Amino acid sequence: MASRRLPEKARVPARAATRLLQDIVGAWRCQALHAAVQLQIPEHLADGPRTVSDLSAVLACSPDGLARLLRALCVLGVCTGYRGERFGLSRTGRLLCADPGDDAGASLRPLVQWWGGPLWPMWGELSYSVRTGLSARRKLTGEARYAYLDKGDGAAQLFHGAQRAMTALILDDLAQWRGWDNVRTVVDVGGGHGQLALAMLARHRDLRGLVFDLPHAQGGAHEAIASAGLESRCRFEAGSFFEAVPAGADCYLLKSILHNWDEGVVRTDLNMLAGLGGRERTLDEYGALLGEAGLRIDSVSALSFEFSVIELRSANQSISAPPGS
Ligand SMILES: C[S@@+](CC[C@H](N)C(=O)[O-])C[C@H]1O[C@@H](n2cnc3c(N)ncnc32)[C@H](O)[C@@H]1O
Repeated sequence: MASRRLPEKARVPARAATRLLQDIVGAWRCQALHAAVQLQIPEHLADGPRTVSDLSAVLACSPDGLARLLRALCVLGVCTGYRGERFGLSRTGRLLCADPGDDAGASLRPLVQWWGGPLWPMWGELSYSVRTGLSARRKLTGEARYAYLDKGDGAAQLFHGAQRAMTALILDDLAQWRGWDNVRTVVDVGGGHGQLALAMLARHRDLRGLVFDLPHAQGGAHEAIASAGLESRCRFEAGSFFEAVPAGADCYLLKSILHNWDEGVVRTDLNMLAGLGGRERTLDEYGALLGEAGLRIDSVSALSFEFSVIELRSANQSISAPPGS
């Protein structure tokens, strides 16, 4: 049948609808990645392409269902297909392996597990957060802020895994920060399992560190400190920064901490809104917020992946403290 060309007047809404449709059905992307990770498809393809029947037997999946997921993963650039019979893992897909291997980059698997898992239901409540300004997560879990992580249902492990995966992207950049030469003691405030502090300690041998976070981070932090072999220079302390932070360090790291709390308004990040009733901030907003705490912004340097180091100085302190945003 000969195709009939739409008049321009009809083509404009068709283009707009096509554009919008991509977003309306966009959920499939995150969930296809999530299913791949849940089924450990990347790990099972890491050693080379496999046939659908081989893989479906190993993974105990429906061959038809698996073939359809693999085709979707090809569209997402995670897999490569060979005549629809065999499927392999692309370079991008390797990043979804628990261990992507040397030089492949840090694994993004925990981020997929977090966004496609515990974070997923929250987005269905975004309009609630927009209407009320309150956390959708609190509505869903009944727990304020990070208390839902204390329930022992595995959410804390997924949450900290996702944070580690995100932070891993900027460790090398941050280790180059020129200020480290003047720092002997560092507190990683809200430091989770201490990945940031540990990475800085590993690269700066005279540095000593303290990871400060809520009790749900304690087990993972102890493990991380021990497996880095840094027990002699780093320890974990449980507590809430709403009460106090350990005093006397040269430098306080606050990475992905300040944006969580509800002060100042310009650019509202939806994830912060739905997750915590918090927001992202502009530099001016940071300036105003931190000014109230007796700090001033000393310098700002961009890192990769849209992170920045904001160096703060207090009138009473000679050493600056760099929070990531
Ligand atoms: C978004 S995560 C950032 C983790 C880490 N700084 C990073 O960037 O990878 C926020 C961290 O703040 C911690 N946190 C939240 N409320 C806290 C409080 N009142 N006192 C101490 N830590 C807190 C959380 O447990 C979590 O580890």
